[in-house]
Formats: sequence, C-alpha cells, structure tokens
Amino acid sequence: MNRTDSLTGKAMVITGAGRGIGAVVAQRAAGLGAFVVVNDIDADVASETVARIEELGGSAIAHCGDISDPNYCERLIEACIAERGQIDALVNNAGLFRMGPAWDLNPADLQTMIAVNVLGTAHCAMHAIPRMRAAGKGSIINVTSGAASGIAEMSAYGATKGAVSSMTYGWALDLTGSGVRVNAVSPNATTRMVAAMQEFKGIQDQPRPFQDPQHTAETVCFLASDRSAHVNGQIIRIASGQLSLVAQPKPIQPGVSVADWSIDTVAQAVQELIAGQ
Ligand SMILES: NC(=O)c1ccc[n+]([C@@H]2O[C@H](COP(=O)([O-])OP(=O)(O)OC[C@H]3O[C@@H](n4cnc5c(N)ncnc54)[C@H](O)[C@@H]3O)[C@@H](O)[C@H]2O)c1
Repeated sequence: MNRTDSLTGKAMVITGAGRGIGAVVAQRAAGLGAFVVVNDIDADVASETVARIEELGGSAIAHCGDISDPNYCERLIEACIAERGQIDALVNNAGLFRMGPAWDLNPADLQTMIAVNVLGTAHCAMHAIPRMRAAGKGSIINVTSGAASGIAEMSAYGATKGAVSSMTYGWALDLTGSGVRVNAVSPNATTRMVAAMQEFKGIQDQPRPFQDPQHTAETVCFLASDRSAHVNGQIIRIASGQLSLVAQPKPIQPGVSVADWSIDTVAQAVQELIAGQ
C-alpha cells in the first residue's frame, strides 16, 4: 500500500469538520482516497470544506447538524451508509470549551460542554458501532485533550475530555475481537479554539509551526487506515512536533498495606506514599 491510497475505498464521518482540526483531517482523508461526510453545526463552513476537497479532486458531502442531538447523530451515520453502504471510520472531533475557574462557570455552559463533548461523542459512536460490528471492521478516533489531566481554568472542559478518554479505553475493551478499533488523539494545534484560550489568558502569541493541525490530521488518518490494524485502546498525544502515547491512569504500585484501618494509619500511609514519589 502506498502513501497516497491509504484510505481508498473507505467511507468516513468527521464531526466538526467545517474548520480547525476537523477541516484539515477531512481534506487529508479525502486526499488519501476516503469519501468523507463533513459534519458541522455551521452549514457554511461545512460546505467550504467540501468545496476545498472537491477542488482537489476528492469526494465528500456536507451534513449540517448539532451532534448534541442524538436523533441527529443517527441521521449523520445513516447518511454515510446511504451514500456508500458502509462506515469505515468515525472521527469524533466536534467539541467546544468554556474557560474559567470552577466557581465562575455557569450551569448552561457546563451542560453544553457535556452535551457536545461527551454525549455527542457517545451518540455518534452508538450509531456507528452496530454498523461497524456487522461489517466486522471499523475505526473510531476520538479527540481528547491534555486538559483531561488537569489544567487551571479548564477543569470542566478537561472533565469532558477525561470522559472521552475513559470511553476510548472502555469501548476498545468492549469491541475486542470484533474487528472494530477505538483510539484517540490528544492534539495541540493552532485553531480558533486555541486563539480563544489565548485571548482569555491575555496571551499574545503567534501560531507556531509545531502546532500545525496537519500533524494531528496525519495521525488521525493513520488511525483510520488499515496501517494501524494493530493499534487499539491507545491515546496518542501530538504536541511540540512529537508523538507520544498517553499512559492510562492506574494505581502506582507498590501500595502500602494497612492492617489496622484508622484515620491515623491512613495519614501515615499517605505520608509514606507521597514521600516515596
Ligand atoms: N486545538 C487544540 O489545540 C486542541 C487541543 C485539545 C483538544 N482539541 C479538540 O479538538 C477538537 C477540534 O478543535 P478545534 O481546535 O479544531 O476547534 P474549532 O473551534 O476550530 O473547530 C470545532 C468545530 O466543531 C464545530 N462544532 C462545535 N459544536 C458542534 C456541534 N454541537 N455539532 C457539530 N459541530 C460542532 C464548530 O462549528 C467548529 O467548526 C475539539 O474536540 C477540541 O476539544 C483541540
């Protein structure tokens, strides 16, 4: 298989592909031969992505809608089936964020982030997975964030991305042996989302070459292709020009055995563990 036909014959759904990382992924995937369903809540930008793909000789359709609506997610996946009779890859890219310390966020913002980042990701997958299982193949690529590990003023957004990471690990286990793989990327790329974050923090910064969304696009396309047939349940970090695997959170071993449980013995054990770090 050569580099330019790695996705030939594959049908992909990419959410939030009207701009930012999703748009670059969509263009690259189409360039590698995939048929792409370009979702975005903003119809104009979805159409622009499709126009750019077609100009370059690729194949795509726009599908405008809000992934926080579970009924819409079903229509989105079925649109891919209606066009190509299959769905080979789903890129759960659409997402948004609100910044601020925990006590400054309002309930509506919290609900919107959960509805789009967590439930939108889950609903798209819930409709794609039965189709993929029936075909005995498929690749789901979620988009998480470094904020899942905790970043000041991004706790709520980070929590939604922590949920995306947890779903990635859990779905990969659920689907073991089915031919369907689930992985995630954790990008760092110059987009309007990063511009909004910098504005919030009062940072005046120029786009940096190592934050090129193309790096994420290449990684997502690799995960969508059969070249990653051996990769499942991984979160791949793309930042500062480097790829790394993200370690799954788990208890640090060895722990401390506590024979006689009391607040005093717990205090002593925690002290011992922290001192040993
Ligand atoms: N840019 C980064 O460095 C970075 C870092 C970590 C994670 N991410 C994640 O990458 C993904 C893409 O981010 P981006 O930086 O390209 O952002 P972006 O804001 O540039 O693009 C996001 C796109 O998603 C669309 N969208 C938003 N809500 C939607 C909804 N309900 N239904 C359908 N489409 C919707 C928007 O209209 C937009 O076109 C997000 O999930 C984000 O959380 C980005």
